[in-house]
Amino acid sequence: MTDTSLVNRYRSLAARVYQADKPIGRSFGDVELYSELLRGTAGPILEPAAGNGRVLIPLLAAGREMVGTDPSEDMLDRCRAECESRGLAAALSVGRFDTVDAESEYAAVVIPAGSIQLVLDPAATREIVAGFFRALRPGGRLILDLDSLHALAETAPWAKSWQDGDDLLTLTAVSESVDVVAQTTVAQLRYERWRDGVLDTTELEQFALRLWGVNEMWLLLEAAGFAEVRIHAGYVRDAAIDADTRVVTLEAVKREAPLDH
Ligand SMILES: C[S@@+](CC[C@H](N)C(=O)[O-])C[C@H]1O[C@@H](n2cnc3c(N)ncnc32)[C@H](O)[C@@H]1O
Repeated sequence: MTDTSLVNRYRSLAARVYQADKPIGRSFGDVELYSELLRGTAGPILEPAAGNGRVLIPLLAAGREMVGTDPSEDMLDRCRAECESRGLAAALSVGRFDTVDAESEYAAVVIPAGSIQLVLDPAATREIVAGFFRALRPGGRLILDLDSLHALAETAPWAKSWQDGDDLLTLTAVSESVDVVAQTTVAQLRYERWRDGVLDTTELEQFALRLWGVNEMWLLLEAAGFAEVRIHAGYVRDAAIDADTRVVTLEAVKREAPLDH
């Protein structure tokens, strides 16, 4: 992997394909689980990889105050347009996980779709989680998804297509490398836009992930100061993980401030 400008960028065509594949209203069960877990909280919610708003917009529509950031202008533009078309207002701006700079501000920080895995360096993830901890109010919670380590072995190539107006959008994915020791995978994502059978645009992305063991992330969350960590397998609240689990949601609670005496 040499050209970092190709890694996890979600540029124009990628954002369009994301929208075609995962429009607002599409849920893997995650939107329902996140809504349920957030029901007992009050106050602003930060989604620091908000993308097209697939999770942010249903929460906004349910009356939550949402703050969304994303490094991809193309994804943010889609999120802005989706909010505007529904008459919804969210605070949206460019930002990365490591630029979160807030002090006891949020009731929750949410990171669906395994997006924390886009950070490849575990030390950087530790710093990022420390930043989320600082950004949370006492009693606030960090909710994030992980793919299980099955993903390290899932390297078969695949292809998908969408008819989007006059354009045919295609995405093909080929595994480039897997490092089982570092728990990283790199795939080449080739996005294409075709019209009348003629290729118009191609975009290449190197899609790199750092996968986490569930217990490994649990320990990281505890080390960051979270008092209580809960696990939900397969987007079912309190469901226990087993050997077939593909996706795990971790919910980590920041302890309430001790009472002054
Ligand atoms: C899989 S999408 C998730 C979008 C949305 N949260 C959802 O659940 O559908 C991942 C998003 O993470 C963003 N992203 C990539 N690297 C990031 C980073 N270092 N910090 C924050 N967001 C990042 C991408 O631009 C993309 O919009």
